[in-house]
Amino acid sequence: MDNETTAPVTVLGLGLMGTALARAFLAAGHPTTVWNRTAAKASALVAEGARLAPTIGDALAAGGTTIVCLTDYPAVRDLLDDAALEGATLVNLTSGDSGQARETAAWAEKRGARYLDGAIMAIPSSIGTDEAVILLSGPLPDFDLGALGTVSHLGEDPGLASLYDVAGLTMMWSVLNAWLQGTAMLKTAGVDAATYAPFAQQIAAGVAGWLPGYAEQVDKGSFPAEVSALETDVRAMAHMVEESEALGVNAELPKLIKAMADRAIAAGHGGEQYPVLIREFERP
Ligand SMILES: NC(=O)c1ccc[n+]([C@@H]2O[C@H](COP(=O)([O-])OP(=O)(O)OC[C@H]3O[C@@H](n4cnc5c(N)ncnc54)[C@H](OP(=O)(O)O)[C@@H]3O)[C@@H](O)[C@H]2O)c1
Repeated sequence: MDNETTAPVTVLGLGLMGTALARAFLAAGHPTTVWNRTAAKASALVAEGARLAPTIGDALAAGGTTIVCLTDYPAVRDLLDDAALEGATLVNLTSGDSGQARETAAWAEKRGARYLDGAIMAIPSSIGTDEAVILLSGPLPDFDLGALGTVSHLGEDPGLASLYDVAGLTMMWSVLNAWLQGTAMLKTAGVDAATYAPFAQQIAAGVAGWLPGYAEQVDKGSFPAEVSALETDVRAMAHMVEESEALGVNAELPKLIKAMADRAIAAGHGGEQYPVLIREFERP
């Protein structure tokens, strides 16, 4: 692996994220070539030492690794459809789903490129710090992307980075929705969001601590009720639904949570522990 910060890199796409990526490469000392459809967006980076490639062909010919960060996969395919990709190494950090990642990997490999797919689980201002999580999948990288943040290579399947990305988004929005539900309930009693937030944070951290043990049950396919049985949990879920309805706040999320547990109980899993619900989540 080339760990030298002198390794050249090219960044295609200078939106909010692409600009942050190029800036982090420059800050780490990589000779950085940039290209953007709207060339004017490169001005600040050029002032900081980047070289602006006049055409996409020139950008690809700059050598080194090419990082792609556009709006979506169709934009990537549009842009690179007529480009000479033979011998290029592409790292596509554009967000999408695993199907798009696998298709694009097959398309790029057919064109003679080495293709890694990636996902950025970070905001532009955190790029270049350890906080920025960059996921990669596909062939092992031969270029050190450490300038961007904490980089993990997840495996050879090019779809993995996008799958982890989408799984992570599910976690993020589920936690936020759960917090907003509780906040709406407490607001009816005059408790403001800032008062509830530290309590919610403590609950979320506590629940996060259960994950490794629960994961073991999922992986073994065995769900003994060591802490609580689903039929006990479902009684607390009924409180959540009834309380929301009585307070006149939205009860959709509590009802969804209870409906899934009710189905698992109807299927005979009432005496087992919560992760048995994986069976509900595995269904289309
Ligand atoms: N911003 C974030 O917080 C964040 C976080 C994680 C992941 N991401 C991902 O990073 C990617 C880029 O996001 P962004 O925030 O940088 O978006 P953005 O600011 O809207 O930039 C989009 C970029 O794509 C280019 N583009 C779009 N269609 C194109 C086409 N057909 N041909 C050539 N170039 C095209 C744009 O060029 P022009 O400048 O010419 O319009 C611009 O450089 C997305 O997939 C996003 O999901 C972003």
